[in-house]
Amino acid sequence: MNILTSLSELRANLKYMSGSLGLVPTMGSLHEGHLSLVKAARMQNDNVAVSIFVNPIQFGPEEDLDIYPRNHDNDLDILQSEKVDIVWIPDVKEMYPDGYQTYVTVEKLSRYLEGARRPGHMRGVATIVTKLLIAFAPDRLYLGQKDAQQSCIIKRLVADLGFAIDVLICPTVRDIDGLALSSRNSRLNPDERKAAIVLYKSLSEAQTAFANGETDASRLRTLITDVIRIEKFAKLLYVSVSDINSLKELHYVSDRALCSIAVKIGSVVLIDNIVLEDS
Ligand code: PAF
Repeated sequence: MNILTSLSELRANLKYMSGSLGLVPTMGSLHEGHLSLVKAARMQNDNVAVSIFVNPIQFGPEEDLDIYPRNHDNDLDILQSEKVDIVWIPDVKEMYPDGYQTYVTVEKLSRYLEGARRPGHMRGVATIVTKLLIAFAPDRLYLGQKDAQQSCIIKRLVADLGFAIDVLICPTVRDIDGLALSSRNSRLNPDERKAAIVLYKSLSEAQTAFANGETDASRLRTLITDVIRIEKFAKLLYVSVSDINSLKELHYVSDRALCSIAVKIGSVVLIDNIVLEDS
C-alpha cells in the first residue's frame, strides 16, 4: 500500500497504474461504513484508492473541525488489511494554498437539509470532491447513502461537469441496534449512545406507517417528531420527507421519497435517512 501526501507523488503513482481505479473519499476515523465502500471498490476495480482529508472548508466556524475524530494509525492498519493500493493524506496547505478562491456550488440541491442547516457545507463538499476527482481521475467513486444529500449533490456535479465516472451509492451500515455508523458516534457518552437509537426508531416507524398506507408527508413528519420528542437527550433539528432527486419537500408520497432527519444528542449532531418506497 502506497501512503502518499503530496499531489506530485500521487500523480507519479497514478501514471504507472494500469487497469480501473475506484476511489473512496473519507475524512478518516474509519468504521465499518467506510469499509463497506472499500470492499465494494475492491470487488469492482483493479485498483483502490482512499483519500483521508478532514476538509476544513466544509465545516462552519461554530462546528466541530478541531474535535473531529482523527486516527491515522488505526485507519492505515485497516486499509492495509483491505489491500488498498493508494492512500492519499494531503496537506491542508496543498489543497488550499494561500489565496485560494475557487469553489464548486451545486446551486439548488445545496439549499435543503444539511445545506440549509450548515451554510457553506455543501459548497465545501462539492469543492473537495471535485478536486479529488481531478487529482485521481478514477473510474468509479464510492459514497454512502447515510449522507444522502451529499451523494445526490455529487451525482449532480459529476453529470454537470462531465466527469466520466460512475458514482456508486452503498447502503447505510448500522450498529446492531440500528444506529447508523458515523465517526461522530465516538463522541457520544453511554447515555447519549443509548438515546441515539431514537433516530432509526423514528425513521422505522415512518417506514411502517408508509407500508401501512400513510402517504401524507406532514403526518409522516409529525410521527417522526413525536417519537424524537419523547427522548430527553434528543433535540430534533429538522425532519424532511422530500423528492429523492430534487430534494423538494413533498405533500404526498406517491411511490418514493427520501425521509431525512438531523438530531442533536448532547452536543453531537447525527443525521440519518431512509428511502420510503412502494414494495
Ligand atoms: O462524507 C465525507 O466523509 C466527506 O464529506 C467527504 C465526501 C470525504 C468530503 O470531504
